[in-house]
Amino acid sequence: MAFARLSAIIALAFGASQLVSAAVVQRSTTCPSGQTTANATCCQLFPIVDLLQTQLFDGGECGEEAHSALRLAFHDAIGFSTSGGKGGGADGSILAFNKTENAFHANAGIDDITDRQFPVFLQSGLSAGDFVHLAAAVAVTNCVGGPSLKFFFGRPPPVAPAPDLTVPEPTDSVTSILARFDDAGFSPAEAIALLASHTIAAADQVDPSIPGTPFDSTVTTFDSQVFLEVLLKGKSFPGATGQPGEVLSPLAGEMRLQSDSRLSQVSRTACFWQAFINQQSLMTGAFKVVMAKMQVLGQNTKLLTDCSDVIPTSKPFTGPIKYPASFSQSDVQQACSQLPFPSLSTVSGPAPTVSPVPGS
Ligand code: HEM
Ligand SMILES: *[C@@H]1O[C@H](CO)[C@@H](O)[C@H](O)[C@H]1NC(C)=O
Ligand SMILES: *[C@@H]1O[C@H](CO)[C@@H](O)[C@H](O)[C@H]1NC(C)=O
Repeated sequence: MAFARLSAIIALAFGASQLVSAAVVQRSTTCPSGQTTANATCCQLFPIVDLLQTQLFDGGECGEEAHSALRLAFHDAIGFSTSGGKGGGADGSILAFNKTENAFHANAGIDDITDRQFPVFLQSGLSAGDFVHLAAAVAVTNCVGGPSLKFFFGRPPPVAPAPDLTVPEPTDSVTSILARFDDAGFSPAEAIALLASHTIAAADQVDPSIPGTPFDSTVTTFDSQVFLEVLLKGKSFPGATGQPGEVLSPLAGEMRLQSDSRLSQVSRTACFWQAFINQQSLMTGAFKVVMAKMQVLGQNTKLLTDCSDVIPTSKPFTGPIKYPASFSQSDVQQACSQLPFPSLSTVSGPAPTVSPVPGS
């Protein structure tokens, strides 16, 4: 009873009902390229999706550039406050004003992806905001299991860089992280849904001696493995020593952010965190809903065209997820007592060493 009620509350918090009721859009326009869309305005985007795949994502890979394109979309959009006085939100200012925003501490290493994106952005003819947020949506579909995010088209060029200190850091307290998300318009449940992104994530800068160190053992798959692995007892650091913003991780070659670790453990967010484990459609559905909100922060959506039907579809993830080899439920630091812990099997063999993301 108590379990069932909490699951319902969680589904509601993540707006699952919005997905179920989504209307089926008619693709009534055939574009010169042969593809179909609901709105002829969107036809110009199909060649740009192809451009992104060939020029930026190595022909459609869920690699380093795809991961960092998603991170870039977050660092762009979160430069916003519902009470005003911060940046323009999802406006592409991080790309257009890269000299300014790249210098912020929380954007360390982001120049890798702004440098890679800049020439493709110029070639695309899109506004910086449309480019950054289209690239992130395409990137997610290159990963097995990644949802097809919504894409709204027509952002005007950004007018100014975002100010510093809008992007949360792994060294920040839970209180300050959740306060920053709240200021940008996101609830704690929504913040955890956005952290599904860390299933296709690695760190170059937290420990610069080991670039490309993944946050989970399946860094090219948009699965719920990260929500499981962050709960496993920590044993070691992937580098020679621990760095600020990093805590002990369970697997050799894997990095655990202090922020992910704390958010998984505190009562305000522990059940949202645990609820996603092995719940692929709940997780991707919640991520899609909250990303749709994030990717239009600061925009007048009445002036945008819904071009979601230009976003590709990923290869499906056919779970269930598993404990990494040698791990079991006895290694879980369960912090949510109101939900049953999912029963999962274990990959066979010796404990794995997670490999760095190539090209990092
Ligand atoms: C609590 C809030 C968050 C904190 C403290 C945080 C922190 C970090 C840190 C420290 C890194 C590693 C950067 C590096 O060393 O190279 C990282 C990577 C990443 N983050 Fe987050 N993050 C947060 C939320 C998000 C959100 C909301 C998204 C997207 C919706 C996101 C997407 C990513 C991605 C995709 C990467 C991997 C980038 C790559 O592999 O190149 N993060 N994050
Ligand atoms: C942004 O980056 C590109 C490529 O690195 C550069 O050509 C451009 O001048 C930069 N713009 C600003 C305003 O920093
Ligand atoms: C297509 O988009 C344009 C520009 O946003 C809009 O004016 C028009 O109403 C849309 N048409 C349809 C069929 O949705």
